[in-house]
Amino acid sequence: SRHFAVFGTPIAHSLSPRIHAAFARQTGIALDYVAIEAGHDDFAMHLAAFADNGGHGANVTLPLKESAFALCSNTSERALRAGAVNTLLRDGDGWRGDNTDGAGLLRDLTQRNGLDLRGRRTLMLGAGGAARGIAPTLLDAGIDALYIVNRTAQNADALADLLGDPKRVHARYLDDLPALGEFDLIVNATSATRGGELPHLPMSMVGRRTAAVDLSYGEAAIPFLAWARANRCHDAIDGLGMLVEQAAGSFEVWHGVRPDTDLVYADLRAHTD
Ligand code: ATR
Repeated sequence: SRHFAVFGTPIAHSLSPRIHAAFARQTGIALDYVAIEAGHDDFAMHLAAFADNGGHGANVTLPLKESAFALCSNTSERALRAGAVNTLLRDGDGWRGDNTDGAGLLRDLTQRNGLDLRGRRTLMLGAGGAARGIAPTLLDAGIDALYIVNRTAQNADALADLLGDPKRVHARYLDDLPALGEFDLIVNATSATRGGELPHLPMSMVGRRTAAVDLSYGEAAIPFLAWARANRCHDAIDGLGMLVEQAAGSFEVWHGVRPDTDLVYADLRAHTD
């Protein structure tokens, strides 16, 4: 059977091995999929060892999505636009990089949660690998404007530049939030709440149909979603659905088959909260 892995840190509680095992059972494809702890310093070394041992494909999660992009010998168009990679496919002596995060998020928001993203004035908190992966997709989905706010302003500026859509994309400071008005979509793409911190978010950002989306799930999503509910956002959505959909996207890249996600999602939802 072919070998797969997910790299990142912390990785011990990753649900990806479980999701890919479920997809494998469903489609009758033989594979093994393990979680490998790796940080910025040792990712290249672990990935090379994985390749030497016959590794066929891998997922990459925080904080390695931009490093993974830099390590690829070639990339898909969507990975290139994002400057971040969550899916690696062995390609000769190197790796081909793809990014299924944006498509995964879009599927979860539009199909599972029934949101229409067109025309939404959007705030994205964060400018790291996760933010990069989803921003191009949000723009393609027809959001009205994208405000990027990040602890380190330069990273927000760099992402705004990379996106190349100056009419719609604006980098702003955290301190500007009270003056920015209402948003129809607020996406938390920071890893801040994994450490239990949430930047101060003013209530003035919430409007009649504001959807609040955290790209993380489980405990990490609690502070932002609690804020969203306390401030009466219309929708408060965690990243579990996106996780399953991006996994299905990676599965399709590797195996050429798109697995059904509904049962896997329902099972995780029932057992991880
Ligand atoms: P990921 O793959 O989750 O995006 P990342 O590339 O390390 O991981 O990016 C983490 C994001 O969360 C960044 O936007 C980071 O802000 P900086 O660019 O200022 O580092 C943000 N972040 C992490 N910890 C944070 C905190 N305590 N408060 C605010 N933002 C934080």
